[in-house]
Amino acid sequence: MRNHLFLIVAAALLVFACTPKQEEPLTRDFDPPIMGWSSWNHFHTDISEEVICGQADALISLGLADAGYKYVNIDDGFTDGRGADGRIIIDTVKFPNGMKAIADYCHSKGLKAGMYSDAGDNTCASLNVKPYGLGVGLYGHEVEDCKMMFDEWGYDFFKVDNCGGRHLDLNEQEQFTKIAEAIAQCENKNVNFNVCRWVFPGTWVIDIADSWRTTHDIWVNWETLKTIIKENMYLVAYTGNGHYNDMDMLEIGMGFKPEEERTHMACWCIQSSPLVVGCDLNNMPDYSIEFLKNPDLIAMDQDRLGIAAPVVQKEGETYVMAKDMERRNGPKRAVVVANLGDEEITINVDVTALGFKGKVDVYDCFKHENRPELSDAFSLTIAPHDSEAFFVSGKRTDKSVYQVEEAFLNAYTEINEQDYEAYRRPYEIPSPRIRESAAADMGFYATELGGWEENWLEWRNVYVSKAGDYALSFRYACKDARNMVVSVNGAEASLLGSLNTGSDLEWQDVNIKVKLEKGFNTIRLSNPASQMPDIDCMTVKKM
Ligand code: GLA
Repeated sequence: MRNHLFLIVAAALLVFACTPKQEEPLTRDFDPPIMGWSSWNHFHTDISEEVICGQADALISLGLADAGYKYVNIDDGFTDGRGADGRIIIDTVKFPNGMKAIADYCHSKGLKAGMYSDAGDNTCASLNVKPYGLGVGLYGHEVEDCKMMFDEWGYDFFKVDNCGGRHLDLNEQEQFTKIAEAIAQCENKNVNFNVCRWVFPGTWVIDIADSWRTTHDIWVNWETLKTIIKENMYLVAYTGNGHYNDMDMLEIGMGFKPEEERTHMACWCIQSSPLVVGCDLNNMPDYSIEFLKNPDLIAMDQDRLGIAAPVVQKEGETYVMAKDMERRNGPKRAVVVANLGDEEITINVDVTALGFKGKVDVYDCFKHENRPELSDAFSLTIAPHDSEAFFVSGKRTDKSVYQVEEAFLNAYTEINEQDYEAYRRPYEIPSPRIRESAAADMGFYATELGGWEENWLEWRNVYVSKAGDYALSFRYACKDARNMVVSVNGAEASLLGSLNTGSDLEWQDVNIKVKLEKGFNTIRLSNPASQMPDIDCMTVKKM
């Protein structure tokens, strides 16, 4: 009997010991980027109960709702001023049953409903030839308007523009934070908050919003689409943990060529952008509906990690972007190869650059099938403006090159720069800039770093599979002697002093030896006292 007990206990221990360490569960702990439809891009202010409910019905009848497109977002154009009591007046010619009726209708169909306002006094339609939206912005009415929209009417999403905020010259961080606090005061705790400020506002936005617009308005124009895709290539560190760069509405079904629509959809999905359709759903080509419903691209966008993808290989105007899927540093990655140039290209996609060793499985997200070959590199011929999208699986390598485009630039904001260029305002505080340059690895570098306490940059996901000594090599440029401090996992490792390449566009490498821990490490570059060199990328090598 005693022997028996011993055997049972020993067997149980053996089973326990042999059970592999549990992997991260494949459930998410935050909301994915929203998917839905918005009234602005096609209808502008010509909206009504009939239009909105008609589009809600179309989301369902076209199978888009089943594919995940659930939000029906009303944009600018439903108001008729503000009453003496301070309450927004609804345009009852357009919305005879009021705004609650629309949210109720959407909810009755299993959909969600979205609202729109402005951080300042007027909405953006106030700038139209025929002004609209005067005096209906949130400024001075933050709490009452939010309670009305989310508790009384029951809406689920809130896009807040900034035309009125700019008109009043408000401090954007303060005003958008005040609005976030007003939303938090509502009983409805499920309001998804989108800041629409047309450039990356600053890292403060990550703490207060679920998503934020990163660029000017999209429209059916290839150069515009290309600019939006490229600007988001260097904002990847700010998407994550349920907070997303918003690349603006999808203009699929509005006149782009099919190959441009493939690029549009693939690039939004690899960057985990919200997917909000902007067209008239009752009037778009069948192929556009199919692109929107592509289950593999939707899975890429809605992946539980919710991260964005840096560029890992570039040839001319062709960019290869890659991100982990399902598990950080796991065996599966999403890859998009976008030919943003005007010529057909043939590119050999390098499996090592994608983060794999040896042979890989390549699944085509447009054809929904595996590619026949499994090799160290795979060749693609891509038409101008077209893209390919894949899931690639295989044995992973430790990533060796980290671009500055994927670093978290703590003081990064594009507001100063935009305002400086548009209004010739002086810079209040120097903030870092990302510049495009053919001499920079993958096309971009960072400048105006350092000089004050908060102006540092950090690579937060430096993964090594073995602990030990590593050589870090930083590619930098500066025309006079500058310093920077390298910190590893919060501890200061070294001061790199008197760095000087003699010219702003002359790149050189500087190396240091550091100890890295197995798993993810954080590497910070800083200099609170004076300007740092410009930075292009960092290479990590086991010693
Ligand atoms: C701004 C926004 C658009 C739309 C309009 C409405 O231009 O960027 O997406 O909301 O305002 O007036």
